[in-house]
Amino acid sequence: MEIIIQPDSQQASQVAARIVARLIREKPHAVLGLATGNTPLQLYRNLVRMHREEELDFSGLTCFTLDEYVGLPPAHPSSLHSYLWAHLFSQINLPKERINIPDGQTPDIPAACRKYEQAIRSAGGFDVQVLGIGKNGHIGYNEPSSSLSSRTRIKTLTAETRLEVAAAFGGLDAVPAHVITMGLGTIMDARMCLLLAFGQKKAKAVAQAVEGPVTAMVPASVLQMHPRALVVLDMDAASGLDMADYYIWVQDNKPDWQKY
Ligand code: F6R
Repeated sequence: MEIIIQPDSQQASQVAARIVARLIREKPHAVLGLATGNTPLQLYRNLVRMHREEELDFSGLTCFTLDEYVGLPPAHPSSLHSYLWAHLFSQINLPKERINIPDGQTPDIPAACRKYEQAIRSAGGFDVQVLGIGKNGHIGYNEPSSSLSSRTRIKTLTAETRLEVAAAFGGLDAVPAHVITMGLGTIMDARMCLLLAFGQKKAKAVAQAVEGPVTAMVPASVLQMHPRALVVLDMDAASGLDMADYYIWVQDNKPDWQKY
């Protein structure tokens, strides 16, 4: 794992945007996996700005979103479909036919999940998978106890996760119980994983995921087994890390060709 600690979430998001933009410029037909939530908002804003001001071209890319709530129509304001259209897809030149989002309303969830996995494989697999982390260590909506080799499937949200997103639904009762999410095995197949975490409330999960044992009880800890997992943090999210000084020293002493 490579741990990149920045003074604040703004600077961390700029680093993340530079990493994604470099990949897109080097590989114009790259395949991206995308998380939703508060954490990647500034990353997406930076990518939109780079599209407008620096000619960052999304026209050759293929994108897949990590998850979707079961039962929500795409146009629902709290669907992950709406989120990604509002914050990214509507503002860049990514062709609609290469945007893939799990169908939360499918009548046959297992078949839709198999089809999603097949579509990811057919596209050539992810060049980068953008991830956030839940307070309980989930990535995607792979809640604690998820199989470390799981594929896209239905998952039941924990009470804690439902509470976290309740405001967006106008109350807990309106939060769906289930999601379709890529599995940990699906995420681990990406050629690069880019996990972002900001704020004190993520510090414990980050410390467990980065420095704790690999365990299904902290799903993000599986990234310790990934050959190229970058973890981009602000100071608050890094505050529980025992080896933070070392991670900062590593970044400060990188040879020029390795810098982001
Ligand atoms: C959502 C997803 C989740 C979120 C996580 C953190 O697509 O993949 O794992 O990244 O719940 O959410 P925020 O960023 O809102 O704290």
